[in-house]
Formats: sequence, structure tokens, C-alpha cells
Amino acid sequence: MIYLQQPVATARVLSGMRPTGRLHLGHMTVLNNWVQLQSKFECYFFVADWHALTTSFEETQLFAGYIRDLVIDWLAVGLDPQKSTIFIQSRVKEHAELFLLLSMITPVSWLERCPTYKDQVIQLGQQGKEIAMLGFLGYPVLMSADILMYQAQFVPVGEDQLPHLEICREIARRFNYLYRQEVFVEPKALLSEISLLPGLDGRKMSKSYDNFISLSASSDEIKTKVKTMVTDPARIHKTDPGHPQICNVFAFHRIFTSAAAPQIEADCRQAGIGCVACKQLLAASIDSYIAPIREERRKLESNPNLVDEILEDGRERATRAAVRTMEMVRGAIGM
Ligand code: TRP
Ligand code: SF4
Repeated sequence: MIYLQQPVATARVLSGMRPTGRLHLGHMTVLNNWVQLQSKFECYFFVADWHALTTSFEETQLFAGYIRDLVIDWLAVGLDPQKSTIFIQSRVKEHAELFLLLSMITPVSWLERCPTYKDQVIQLGQQGKEIAMLGFLGYPVLMSADILMYQAQFVPVGEDQLPHLEICREIARRFNYLYRQEVFVEPKALLSEISLLPGLDGRKMSKSYDNFISLSASSDEIKTKVKTMVTDPARIHKTDPGHPQICNVFAFHRIFTSAAAPQIEADCRQAGIGCVACKQLLAASIDSYIAPIREERRKLESNPNLVDEILEDGRERATRAAVRTMEMVRGAIGM
């Protein structure tokens, strides 16, 4: 007698990114993690375009392009619409309804106390930006709506998002308590690893530092950017032995030229390789890493209907799940 194995209910994972332009090499740790999660969990990945409105009023006309670029980057690195639900937040209006209902039970003091809120008010205030908006204060509430909508047990995020996730857990608890029903599950953070890859100047790779190589960079762009990298400052002449352990170019080699890195390290120490040649090697390694991603991007760009179909399919799937949750939510409240 053969017993069919009981299907194990797969846990749900949800995560999102704000559309702020093309992704770069510094995002790869997070993206690789997402790609792997797809085969273990039921995954929802979405573009948080309403969240992007909380800090920007000027560039909103550019959002449509940013959203598309982000989705194409996701698909090009291996997010798979057959496995995951990929969608745009603003296309699933239920997020707005849940945000509204959650805002009825979220004490303002929780939001004012949130460390990311306090930091941003100071930082953006210094830049002369007006930030005292209701929507900005409510950022964690909208994020809670995103997460709780899909009953996600796990949320892969960076450390900077932990306070928001904590607020989400508190909101879930409070809802269940106030309306006397276990509607929401409390999500747990899946902390993503810190990227081992620094930026081109040795600081964290970031768009705002202009020290990044984007996932869609051309071979020439890669070469030009690698040329600007600072090497071991003690190595003035090619005959001076270098110190790879303090050289940022070598930090990149460890990741992108991993098999040949020990050889490069030895050559550098013995002044057997010059920095110009070393950088050429690195540019070639990065290029071969990016080439397949660039190729996927090119295919997707030449087939805009495909991207639209993927997003429409994602919208439908997400909406089905969202409608079910909203029925429970309204039921619990009594509406
Ligand atoms: N706040 C997140 C960020 O800036 C983006 C985001 C919005 C998100 N809603 C989410 C992430 C829900 C995870 C889950 O990175
Ligand atoms: Fe850095 Fe390479 Fe120059 Fe050595 S040879 S200092 S690793 S760039």
C-alpha cells in the first residue's frame, strides 16, 4: 500500500522594492536570495510604487519607466513568473483599502517613535524637503497592508526595514485582538545577508554615491567605471609590490574572478601584474557576469507585451489572494 504524501502547506514569502531606477551589482545578494526562495516558498514580489510617492513629488512622471526597468531587472536575474507572483502595488487597490482600515487602529505614537521616520525627518529636513506628510508618517502602515494582505509568514528585508516589520507585527496583533479574530498571521523577517561587494570607491554601493555598476551596463560602461577605481595607493610604479588586501579592485576580483583570485593576489604582491592589466581582467570578469543578464534584458525589452502580460497575470493572482483577505477583514470588523 502506497500512501500519497500529504502536501505540505508551503509558507508564503513576500517582498517589495520601491522603483527608483535600474538595479546595480550591489543588489545581487538580495536578488539571488529572492531567486532561491522561489523554489522553496510561494512567493509574492511587488513594485512598491505608492511607497515611492511618500518621498518624491517631482519625478512622478518618470515612475512608469522606473517600474518597468525594475521588473525587467527582476526577470533578467531570474525571478520566474511561473513560480512567483510579480505585480505592481498600485494595480491592486485592495492595498489602499487595507491601509485605510489598518490606519484606524494604529496609534500615531507608534509611527512617530519609528527610528526610520525620525532619521528621515532629520535628514530630508536638512535637505530642505517638506516631509511632514500624512502618507510619509503612514509608510509602515502601508507596508503592513502589503504584507498582511498575503498572509506572508516570511518577509526578506534588509536591516533598515526591521522597525517597519516590528510595527507590522504589532498592527497584526492589535487587529486580531480588537476584532476578536485571528485574521492575520504575524510575519517574520528573513534578514538578507549584507552584500560583500563594496562600491567602486570602497563605500557601500549606492545610487546616491554614484559608485555603482548597473545590471544593464554595457561592456564599455563597465570598462570606464572600473578604470575609475582607486587601487593600492602605495603602488606608484608598476615595479612596486602591491597590497591586494587593501585594494578595492581585488575585493571585486574575489567575487567576480574567484577562481583566478589567488593567482592575481600572488602576482600583485610580486609586482608581476600592473594595475591597468589587473583592471582589464576585472572589467572582463564583470562583463561576463553581466552579459547573460544584459541579454535577457534585451529580449524582454524587445517584447514589451510579454512584460505587460506577466504583470497582468501577477495582478490577477495577487488580486485573488487580496480579495479573500479583505473578505475576512471586513467580516471581522462587521462591514
Ligand atoms: N519599504 C521597503 C523598502 O524600501 C519596500 C516595501 C514596501 C516592502 N512594502 C513592502 C518590503 C513589504 C517588504 C514588504 O525597501
Ligand atoms: Fe589592486 Fe590589482 Fe593593482 Fe594589485 S594589481 S594593487 S590588486 S589593482
